[in-house]
Amino acid sequence: MIEKEKYSLKEHNTFGIDASCASFMAYGNVVEARQVAARIREAALFLIIGSGSNLLLTHDFEGIVVTPESRFEVDIVGEEQAYTYLRCWAGTLFDDVIAYAVEHQLYGAENLSLIPGEVGASAVQNIGAYGAEAGDLISEVEAVEIATGKIVVFHHTDCEYGYRQSKFKHSWKNKYLITSVVYRFSKVYNPRLEYGNIRSALREAGIDMPTPQQLRDTIIRIRQAKLPDPKVLGNAGSFFMNPIVGRDKYESLLKTFPQMPHYTIDALHEKIPAGWLIDKCGWKGKTVGRVGVYDKQALVLVNHGQATGSEVLALCREVQRDVFNKFGIEIKPEVNIV
Ligand code: EPU
Repeated sequence: MIEKEKYSLKEHNTFGIDASCASFMAYGNVVEARQVAARIREAALFLIIGSGSNLLLTHDFEGIVVTPESRFEVDIVGEEQAYTYLRCWAGTLFDDVIAYAVEHQLYGAENLSLIPGEVGASAVQNIGAYGAEAGDLISEVEAVEIATGKIVVFHHTDCEYGYRQSKFKHSWKNKYLITSVVYRFSKVYNPRLEYGNIRSALREAGIDMPTPQQLRDTIIRIRQAKLPDPKVLGNAGSFFMNPIVGRDKYESLLKTFPQMPHYTIDALHEKIPAGWLIDKCGWKGKTVGRVGVYDKQALVLVNHGQATGSEVLALCREVQRDVFNKFGIEIKPEVNIV
């Protein structure tokens, strides 16, 4: 167990915000997770984090911050004819799981390559990219119930996965410490190349039918071209979720903006890229003091150095207001604001 008092969280959030917490506890196994559960059960205030890649700290945190210890730990725990089940420690980097899977001929996660964050957070946030979502791979989530210290196992269907949503974000919020996740990988390679600019990026690289490693490398290249490296420029990836609007709203917007990109959700709903909405409001590449909107992808807010979380939050509010005034759409942060 790692325990610290009055501890800076600067290394624990990719925005690089220098906020502190009263106490910090990192559990390294299920036994320690149960000890942490007992501690925070009594505490007035606690916050569970992963690697902080989806977190905006707007003030010092007066309670206990809890996280699984960061380390790589994966085990094959089941085999079927078409699938292999891989149990991963909650503090394992999700991208390290994908690298391991591709090396071991286990498929289905290539399109999620280079998404920052850890295994535990993948189960909470249902991270996704290029037409794939972590929830699609999740078979089971093992956790410690904070109220009782009991070890519980949730099955995929219990978790109610949706676009960047799960029960862990809603009715199960602050009720469990996730210790491991079992992902179900396919033994058959079934590449998904239709989403976004995967095809054109492959064409540019002279690849017709990518191997799993080539697909992973292509996704990594696309992401690196569009998204800032948090080690260089503080950020938390997409700051906002892409809004889902009703068909009437979509059709009325289309009259004014016939070029508007969109993804059809179902007969009644369309998803509009928030990056496009923000870009159209003229925010792309703009800087306000020490914060700004990234110049290659307007969905990403950045810390140009030494910014506070409140400065990022103020920018978030300005961007939300402009998008609402221009399009009548409320865009909601994807990032957890504390
Ligand atoms: N667009 C603009 N201007 C911009 C940004 C985007 O016009 O500044 C347009 C693009 O031209 C494109 C559309 O908006 O037509 C969508 O852009 P993109 O393909 O970059 O994807 P996104 O919808 O902005 C989502 C995820 C990303 C994920 C990509 C690729 C959300 C909130 N974001 O972004 O996830 O990498 O798709 O699948 O769903 C993350 O969650 O942190 C993240 C990076």
